[in-house]
Amino acid sequence: MVLKVCKYGEKVLRDKATPVAVVTDAQRELADDMIETMHHAKGVGLAAQQVGRTERICVIDIPEGCDDAEDELFNAPIPMPLKMWNPEIVAQDGSVCDKEGCLSFPGVGGSIVRAAQVTVQYLDEQNRPQMITARGYLARAMQHEIDHLNGVLYIDHMSAVERLTYATKLKKLSKANGGVR
Ligand code: NI
Repeated sequence: MVLKVCKYGEKVLRDKATPVAVVTDAQRELADDMIETMHHAKGVGLAAQQVGRTERICVIDIPEGCDDAEDELFNAPIPMPLKMWNPEIVAQDGSVCDKEGCLSFPGVGGSIVRAAQVTVQYLDEQNRPQMITARGYLARAMQHEIDHLNGVLYIDHMSAVERLTYATKLKKLSKANGGVR
């Protein structure tokens, strides 16, 4: 089922997600709905708050060809789509600035500095603890989604100059969706 995607201005995007004790059928169903919603919106990642929920879960699906060949090869063992409960970054390395967007911010772009490589620990849909290390676009997506789960939005990482560039657009978007910044 395709769910409604919450936009900047809605309070839930600033809520902090609550860890999930056990991944249940209802949680698995939510993950599948989130993947359907993400694909429908042509996004590569989605966090619970973006569909109005506050469980600590996010989904990611990076299509082939999005990353550098080298990063893609490095990330190849990681199964897609990713469904991650209680994800936490346990290690990170390097830094890289690249373009970033978000389904909750239609029409807003920007360039954000992120770690070049991250190691993330999470619970999979069979309640097994997993640990993956990713680089490039996938590493960026994981940092973006885990931020969402902490109530942090990508615009929070924008440089002062970029924030100014998008200030009018952001103000308008927030106002149209409830006014929470
Ligand atoms: Ni986002």
